[in-house]
Amino acid sequence: MSDLSQKPVADLSEDEARAELERLAAAIAAADIAYHQNDAPEISDADYDGLKRRNDAIEEAFPELVRSDSPADKVGAAPAEGFAKVRHGVPMLSLSNAFADEEVNDFVARARKFFMADILRDPDFALAFTAEPKIDGLSASLRYENGVLVRGATRGDGAVGEDITENLKTIADIPHRLAGSGWPAVIEIRGEVYMTHAEFRRLKEHSAKFGGQDYVNPRNTAAGSLRQKDSRITASRNLNFFAYAWGIAEDAYGNPRPPAATQAEVVQKFGQWGFVTNPLMMRTERAEDLLAHYRLIESQRATLGYDIDGVVYKLDRLDLQQRWGFVARAPRWAIAHKFPAEQATTILTGIDIQVGRTGALTPVARLQPVNVGGVVVENATLHNEDYIKGIGNDGEPIRGGVDLRVGDHVVVQRAGDVIPQIVNVVLDRRPADAAPFVFPKVCPVCGSEARREINEKTGKIDSVSRCTGELICPAQAVENLKHFVARDAMDIDGLGDKQVAQFYAEGRIARPADIFTLRARDERAIKKLKDADGFGPVSVKKLFDAIDARREPELDRFIFALGIRHVGETTAALLAREFGSMAKFRDVAFAAAHDENGHALFPQIGGIGETVRASILGFFANDRNVQALDELLAEVRPKDYVVTISADSVVAGKVVVFTGALEKMTRSEAKAMAERLGAKVAGSVSSQTDILVAGPGAGSKLKKAEELGIEVISEDEWFERVGK
Ligand code: IVH
Repeated sequence: MSDLSQKPVADLSEDEARAELERLAAAIAAADIAYHQNDAPEISDADYDGLKRRNDAIEEAFPELVRSDSPADKVGAAPAEGFAKVRHGVPMLSLSNAFADEEVNDFVARARKFFMADILRDPDFALAFTAEPKIDGLSASLRYENGVLVRGATRGDGAVGEDITENLKTIADIPHRLAGSGWPAVIEIRGEVYMTHAEFRRLKEHSAKFGGQDYVNPRNTAAGSLRQKDSRITASRNLNFFAYAWGIAEDAYGNPRPPAATQAEVVQKFGQWGFVTNPLMMRTERAEDLLAHYRLIESQRATLGYDIDGVVYKLDRLDLQQRWGFVARAPRWAIAHKFPAEQATTILTGIDIQVGRTGALTPVARLQPVNVGGVVVENATLHNEDYIKGIGNDGEPIRGGVDLRVGDHVVVQRAGDVIPQIVNVVLDRRPADAAPFVFPKVCPVCGSEARREINEKTGKIDSVSRCTGELICPAQAVENLKHFVARDAMDIDGLGDKQVAQFYAEGRIARPADIFTLRARDERAIKKLKDADGFGPVSVKKLFDAIDARREPELDRFIFALGIRHVGETTAALLAREFGSMAKFRDVAFAAAHDENGHALFPQIGGIGETVRASILGFFANDRNVQALDELLAEVRPKDYVVTISADSVVAGKVVVFTGALEKMTRSEAKAMAERLGAKVAGSVSSQTDILVAGPGAGSKLKKAEELGIEVISEDEWFERVGK
């Protein structure tokens, strides 16, 4: 059978068009569910748009064939409409991943380093970890007040989830009332909702008999079951739940009250309170034992009866977890050791080049669709030019140095579950006429030169080829806009990737500032937004209101939203805290970028290294960026950054420098502690410094502080002052 999906619309017969519309409706619906409801996109945005465009084109050519469930009528799938939003008392975090044993050893070594001062001080100090399976399901948070389940919610974006109490109540493993005693007055129990293999098979067989839907895998099916409006359907699905974590835990007066002192003990309590906990949890002080437990769990994976995708290691003591803290959205004190990905062989049918937000040209493999571990894979990332040639990032050969050619049989793997990769070529099956791939020298979108720059740090040529068109490149402009409005950035309700792409294509917006003039221009426009695809008067008003609601964004979000290369959420927060206002950040960075003496005017900021600094200044050296920023600042007023200070802390707002040997804590811990108390930690002494904490062996910093008349205190005095 020839591949219909590749046939030009103009060449389709009526039967073929009907078949294609059916295929597209199914593919788009599946992608919508994966994206909006399961938070697990299975195809790229570009592919999604391609499906929609083809559907539209066929509908236009064959209007009589338009389906009653035409995907053209839907603007994405509303994220489980109908469920109320719930703000989690404590955010639901994700986990950092490890794929190799070495990364697990590193994790343990990092912990030892962080707690070195304790280890040296106390010969009995034990650094223990737990290890338990990582369940491949959906996390849920269950709020119990005085032992009674009052609300159950999905994870959502981690901060806000959806109220699915009624559905969760149908799960037999979830008690409506806590058993035993000694539970905190308010506790959010967290864990994983999942579907067993047996239940999945039962559903599939039932569905096959009665002509129902095709279920892809247990996780997606569990997700779909949880999001039913009618909880009787959820009840009919026999879901299960493992409890492994918690959010808020407080007494009746709102004071924090962790249920026990360690991870292992808390989970044990969960068991006493009527939850099902995973029997494969263990506790040890040795990295070798963690790895041995990983192998044990891996060997049992096929016979457990439910899907797991790795093993989670957590620091056992809760007080130490708190001290070690978090990075962005994940705890430092836990890590997920993932299982190797699953593989399948298929044919590489083409190589396309996509252009990203920073102009990176990323080659994408088009594959003959193949099922890899339950998910159909049609695309894989090829990273960069060298990767196609068989050269890795370190210059060493990958795949034995074999290049990739269109027509090759290739081995595909789903690593870390989302983005599939090509890990091997079956050379014996290479077609005689397969030619080496020629990587483009110009941007396929705007035609500007594409260049591989020299990496300033390493002196080596960069593996990534970048379009030099910057804002004149439509691909970069659109990706930048998508980043700008994204949830972690400006977070404009109702303005997602699809709308941005549409508005850009229609010429309604080209740069971020245009978003904020949209309402005013639309009032004058001949082609009004309410008449555009996917919109109406109500949705347009809602959108404009949502845009106006974001005219005073938080400073760190705003800085992140600018999309300066290498400036992620953490760096954006550091910049916001350092400068306090957008005006100051802009003016200092602009002056430094145009400073004849190099970049001396821009302060050294702890946590911001040379690459990031150079990238920030590079951004402000470019007039087009500054102009776009100033246009934007005419429309929005980012709020000044206010440090969230522990109200009663005497060091709040003070600039503190640590020097010399610290005996009770490591340097990074000292820094983390001071910051928690609202102090700003600097690396060097200046007239801005308020307090120097000096340990034994303090040298030039101590001298300078004394010269400047800055208060100098010992580590002990520091502890007295902060009341620890
Ligand atoms: S602990 C602060 N333990 O993995 C740590 N998570 O990648 C919170 N998951 O959203 C998570 N099994 O849905 C933890 N035994 C386990 C887990 C587990 C599955 C999921 C959970 C979380 C995701 C993070």
